[in-house]
Amino acid sequence: MPLQNLKIAFVGSGVMGEAMIKGLLNKNLVQSNQLFASDPHIERGKQLIARYALTFTAHNDDVVKNADIVVLSVKPQVMNKALADIRGHLREDVLVLSIAAGVKIKKMRAGCGAKAIVRSMPNTPGQIGEGITVWTATPEVTGEQRQRATAVLGALGETLFVEDEHYLDMATALNGSGPAYIFLFMEALIDAGVHLGFSRQDAERLVLQTMKGSVEYALHSGLHPAQLRNQVTSPGGTSAEALYFFEKGGLRNVVSRAVWAAYKRSVALGSGGSEDED
Ligand SMILES: NC(=O)c1ccc[n+]([C@@H]2O[C@H](COP(=O)([O-])OP(=O)(O)OC[C@H]3O[C@@H](n4cnc5c(N)ncnc54)[C@H](OP(=O)(O)O)[C@@H]3O)[C@@H](O)[C@H]2O)c1
Repeated sequence: MPLQNLKIAFVGSGVMGEAMIKGLLNKNLVQSNQLFASDPHIERGKQLIARYALTFTAHNDDVVKNADIVVLSVKPQVMNKALADIRGHLREDVLVLSIAAGVKIKKMRAGCGAKAIVRSMPNTPGQIGEGITVWTATPEVTGEQRQRATAVLGALGETLFVEDEHYLDMATALNGSGPAYIFLFMEALIDAGVHLGFSRQDAERLVLQTMKGSVEYALHSGLHPAQLRNQVTSPGGTSAEALYFFEKGGLRNVVSRAVWAAYKRSVALGSGGSEDED
């Protein structure tokens, strides 16, 4: 029980903050009386109190007082303000854990003064506890705090620890933006089904379950995707015909270049500049 009796404060209580709160409670990792949340919207606070019986305040400096873990779940563009709000109000031994895309550890350290900082990159399936979050930590984060970070981020799904902050830009391009790529492919397949003559509703059902089933099957079988693909590709058959056209159209090349461009974009945004995208 790595989070037992700890006070966890959420600075910014929107979609992701709520997803973490909900996940922590659903997994019985915390009790409601351990959860504290802040947000500029009082109405939002009323909703969260009704749903999770947590403690709410509209003041960031109040919410972090005596907290063992402070989760920064605000948008990157308001991070400076949030950091300034909590500066001077944190416990000496606090663990600050950010889920904000692109905000570097250096900036968080300078902004709030904390030394034990975790920076993470979750993704949207985290909203239903099915995400995967890549995270890293400063050297000052103790072994016990690492366990706590794993538990808190586990509320959103799986976790992957990386030693170097540079991996966070790669994570942004792979698991962070990843759902957008999957949804695009999903949409293209549905449209192709409609083109064949299926109703949109039936095409959606067929594609979503095919994608879900394929992922479950891949996880279950433990086989490499190429092996699974070969299993359904009979010589001279329909899958082989479709795959030929995917390859001819440069699907792999497009995917590789797109993910690389997302990575470069992440690096550029993190350094406050812009970089050529090719
Ligand atoms: N959504 C995702 O799936 C996802 C995935 C990966 C990473 N993230 C990261 O997660 C973070 C939160 O995203 P989100 O989707 O949860 O955003 P969100 O729904 O907009 O939640 C942020 C909340 O913080 C509030 N807020 C604004 N300024 C504040 C301040 N100074 N102090 C305290 N709270 C403040 C916002 O209020 P207003 O509505 O008035 O602004 C909003 O209620 C972002 O940094 C994002 O990069 C999100």
